[in-house]
Amino acid sequence: MRRLYPTPGGLTGAAELEDEYLLPAARHVRANFVTSLDGMVELGGRSSPLGGPADREAFMAMRAVADVILVGAGTVRQEKYGPVRLDATVQERRRARDQAALPKVAVVSNRADLDPQAKLWGGGEAKPLLITTAAAAEARTDLAAVAELVVCGDQFVDLQLALDELSTRGLQRVLCEGGPTLFRTLVTAGLLDELCLTTSARLVGPGHRGLLGDQPLTEPASLTLAGVLEGDEMLLSRYALGAQS
Ligand SMILES: NC(=O)c1ccc[n+]([C@@H]2O[C@H](COP(=O)([O-])OP(=O)(O)OC[C@H]3O[C@@H](n4cnc5c(N)ncnc54)[C@H](OP(=O)(O)O)[C@@H]3O)[C@@H](O)[C@H]2O)c1
Repeated sequence: MRRLYPTPGGLTGAAELEDEYLLPAARHVRANFVTSLDGMVELGGRSSPLGGPADREAFMAMRAVADVILVGAGTVRQEKYGPVRLDATVQERRRARDQAALPKVAVVSNRADLDPQAKLWGGGEAKPLLITTAAAAEARTDLAAVAELVVCGDQFVDLQLALDELSTRGLQRVLCEGGPTLFRTLVTAGLLDELCLTTSARLVGPGHRGLLGDQPLTEPASLTLAGVLEGDEMLLSRYALGAQS
């Protein structure tokens, strides 16, 4: 892996890559996606056919520095999400930065249409969070046994409230791992700070889910390039939300 921008240079090892993605202990919402060159986020319903070793390393580095992983229910269902696992050395580096050994997982869902037997709920010492509505929490009391239910809205999840709830739990550095529906809401609500986008050297054509789902934005969003890495024929770009002033 090598850095192309802003300062060209080589990167060796997981710790150096983590340093690229380190964040100060303050509210920050980062999204991470891998897309084809034509902006599609899945092949056969999964993101992994678009990825590769460099993308996987960056994905793990971003997990390594996050307080919480925010993910939409569609991605949990489709990608069969499991509990977060990090190497012991990564966990040590987290503790040295006063972070918990592992990031929390927070699933966002209006309907809470999730399987309580899914592997995501089974693995860690601490229950994942399920950010949902009052209506769904009332209907799905079975999920309370496997997840900590965080009610943020009556019929629809209010993401600003959700981020505030995460902050009160000390979860400030948020890594959103998708999918497109959740990402789009963060963008339109003005809640996203950063987009990390791996572009895979592949073209897949229409008929696949795109980065923002299938609805246009009411207004184009402007972003500013903050960094570019290269590895395995992939460009790993980092953008700050907002145009350069
Ligand atoms: N390439 C990549 O990096 C990448 C990353 C992630 C996902 N993906 C792909 O994206 C596809 C899934 O797309 P998707 O748009 O369905 O993903 P998604 O955003 O994870 O899931 C949509 C569902 O999540 C919940 N949700 C999302 N935003 C919400 C909000 N603001 N408030 C309340 N609930 C919200 C809703 O769940 P309920 O219906 O339960 O209410 C909604 O139906 C999969 O094929 C996956 O492989 C690719």
